[in-house]
Amino acid sequence: MKPSMFTRRKFIKYSAYGIGTVAVGVAGINSTGKVNYSDPAYLYWNKNSRGALKKESYVVLCGALAASAHNTQPWRFDIEENQVDVYADLSRNLGRADADRRMMSQSVGCAIENISVASQQLGITPEIVYQNDGQFHENGFAAQIRLLPGEFKQDHPMFEAMFQRQTTRAPYLEKTPEAKFITRLESQNDFEELQLHIITNDAQLITINAIHKDAVDAFVADDNAYLDSVRWWRYSREELLEKRDGISIYTSAAPNLVKQYFSMGVTHEDMQGEFGRQGEADLMYKLFDATPMWAAITTSKSTLQNRLNAGRLLERLYLSCAKYDYRIMPIAYACEQAVYANKVLSALQLDDSNELVSIVRIGESATLEKSVRRPLSDIIV
Ligand SMILES: Cc1cc2nc3c(=O)[nH]c(=O)nc-3n(C[C@H](O)[C@H](O)[C@H](O)COP(=O)(O)O)c2cc1C
Repeated sequence: MKPSMFTRRKFIKYSAYGIGTVAVGVAGINSTGKVNYSDPAYLYWNKNSRGALKKESYVVLCGALAASAHNTQPWRFDIEENQVDVYADLSRNLGRADADRRMMSQSVGCAIENISVASQQLGITPEIVYQNDGQFHENGFAAQIRLLPGEFKQDHPMFEAMFQRQTTRAPYLEKTPEAKFITRLESQNDFEELQLHIITNDAQLITINAIHKDAVDAFVADDNAYLDSVRWWRYSREELLEKRDGISIYTSAAPNLVKQYFSMGVTHEDMQGEFGRQGEADLMYKLFDATPMWAAITTSKSTLQNRLNAGRLLERLYLSCAKYDYRIMPIAYACEQAVYANKVLSALQLDDSNELVSIVRIGESATLEKSVRRPLSDIIV
């Protein structure tokens, strides 16, 4: 039975209002809305030491904490002594919302980056050999990571950030990030075939904001892409903790009352229809308007290796944000629709022979609830 205090219309309005009041979403939590971080779905966030795990398993655990599109966690790992083979799990896809598997490739790249950071923390030198066919092998093979003995053990500057990082779907303060922080972000890009563009000037912010509003409108109106993406929505806490993947209202800045309403009354059919589409567009408009900086990753060569490396760079941006107390949220609507990707490229003074691989919003806000992770036993084959 659905709660009677809200009509759907009111819910949408309330939800849009709510995401503008981060403090309510974060501080105003009552017992029913509280996340239980001792649930197995969250335990890896505390594993900042190897404990009894084999080194190969531990670096995979850290890899699994990486960001992934819609929290699909589209990866599998085959471990042998001193070696981790990384595969995309091709079945865990976003369908027509990620038709070129650009987001899947980056998600796998995000995991590779965390494995690299964790290996170095253990005093291991990771040597990464990429699948070089221009696409995943038909069995999903993406890269082999050889764990070679390092010269000496030294703390990796981003190691602790792996356990702090998150996607923060909140409005950010109207405050340009500090120049020192921007320089640090830029220094993360040592990939020869990738470019990192930082957007903070007012004219460009207005242009990028407008392109994204059009892109989200087009996305929610596109049945193919929208309906495939909604398959990864998880509704109740029970479902989230059981499946340990996907996205939910709980990691958003919506007020607790809205979260409760959502888990009690909103169905998959609601999300597939006008309710879900309008809600997503309303939310994104609010978030785009509260974005003091965007960072875009582009390449002039659309190869699997460049997309995997774009994922590695994306994860480095996440880790840098966590380390220096900024928030970050990738926004895929433009990247996944060529007409809007080309508009972003043109705003960056690039022609459409380039690929917009990723674009993220960055700024300051409170942190939100952490996301769930699948068990190691499901991802190590
Ligand atoms: C390639 C890629 C694209 C993403 N696109 C979006 C997006 O368009 N909107 C969004 O809210 N989050 C996006 N995310 C963030 C994921 O939803 C997030 O990483 C996942 O839900 C796990 O949550 P966490 O990052 O907080 O651990 C993206 C992540 C990746 C790696």
